[in-house]
Amino acid sequence: MDKIVITGGRKLKGEVAISGAKNSALPIIAASLLSEEESVIENVPDLRDIQTMLRLLRALGAKAQYENGTVTVKPGKNLNPVAPYKLVSTMRASVCVMGPLLARMGQAEVSIPGGCIIGPRPIDLHIKGLEALGAQVEIQHGYVNARAPKKLRGADIFLGGSFGSSVLATGNVMMAAVLAQGKTTIENAACEPEVVDLARFLKKMGAKIIGEGSPILEIEGVKKLRGIRFAVIPDRIEAGTYLFAAAMTGGDVLIKKTEPAHTHAVADKLRQSGVRIDKGKMTLRVRRNGRLKPVDVTTLPYPGFPTDLQAQMMALMSITPGISVITEKIYPDRFMHVSELNRMGSKIFLEGNSAIVHGVKRLSGAPVMASDLRASAALVLAALVAEGTTEVHRVYHLDRGYEKLETKFSFLGASIHRERE
Ligand code: EPU
Repeated sequence: MDKIVITGGRKLKGEVAISGAKNSALPIIAASLLSEEESVIENVPDLRDIQTMLRLLRALGAKAQYENGTVTVKPGKNLNPVAPYKLVSTMRASVCVMGPLLARMGQAEVSIPGGCIIGPRPIDLHIKGLEALGAQVEIQHGYVNARAPKKLRGADIFLGGSFGSSVLATGNVMMAAVLAQGKTTIENAACEPEVVDLARFLKKMGAKIIGEGSPILEIEGVKKLRGIRFAVIPDRIEAGTYLFAAAMTGGDVLIKKTEPAHTHAVADKLRQSGVRIDKGKMTLRVRRNGRLKPVDVTTLPYPGFPTDLQAQMMALMSITPGISVITEKIYPDRFMHVSELNRMGSKIFLEGNSAIVHGVKRLSGAPVMASDLRASAALVLAALVAEGTTEVHRVYHLDRGYEKLETKFSFLGASIHRERE
């Protein structure tokens, strides 16, 4: 296992290019199963989760390969409908093969992903949507067995749960509906840019969808889809992570190959915190000279502040003079980073689904343990401003979602490297 070693105290300066969005690429790769023909997907980051998705596609009988940021998938005529526990248990996003398998093969047997370190992760909305389209769903031996003896039929579906809309459930149901007979309306659809990107991919394949980016999606089923070439959007969570890094270190960084329109909520909070952000066409320049100011943040579905940047925001709050409050509305238990940040000298108190953060003058480097992808990113950010050296263990979490993390931070002037344990 590797560890990342960071010595804090350097202001980040320079330019960093953002990779393709992991959370866009994963469902899009699954969606390529909807055609027999070959699809080529570009701007795909070189990440462990992407490799897991490709392994899953191969297990389903498709040809799938990755080379230099490009994924090529050739599903062929017949697919094996079983997504095995071994692969699904390592990555929840595997669940998004359910919609395409059901639509193409009339059958999907997908291991139930289960919860994860960020809390319970139910899939009731996925199942509700697929049942509404006519699938018969049974839970047996830890698997969701979905069958559509007759062709799926369009339906009116309300996809809201206790925590609002669901990104992957919207994707899954949309992917099934594009090949169903007749019209489907999904209400309370997720509006995240990754859902819009998936809809763009499907439309290029020949699907008929309107309303992507709004809570109401209208889909007219078609008989067949074709293979296409497509490039995924830039990763807004990676961009946000570099925004925080530059802001925390008091640096001056130009973030390139990004989509500023996808980071409004984050830029707004950073500006309130005293950070200067200038938008360009595909760039964001982030600078800070003055003191950070405390803010309160609540995570919400898009276009609200993303849960995937909550931990990173907390790292910034840790060194912001005064008291800041962060409330987690998507995953109320997503606070595994709190105890590790506190080991570095943060003063964070949990109160239900809120964290009360008392800003401290300085953090101190320590050995810390990464618990999930975004929690690990928060530890890296804290380490960049901490006194002394921090060792972040269990780096495989970071490798799931941040492409070339040490290289990118090194280019910006950070003292960071990877070591074998
Ligand atoms: N939910 C249900 N029932 C469902 C599905 C979801 O109650 O059937 C709840 C969840 O428990 C949660 C809320 O709905 O409280 C939203 O979850 P959502 O379904 O939107 O999450 P997801 O689609 O499984 C994606 C990202 C996550 C990101 C969330 C929220 C991918 C591969 N994953 O997950 O990304 O946090 O949307 O934006 O797209 C990450 O990248 O670190 C990550 C965890």
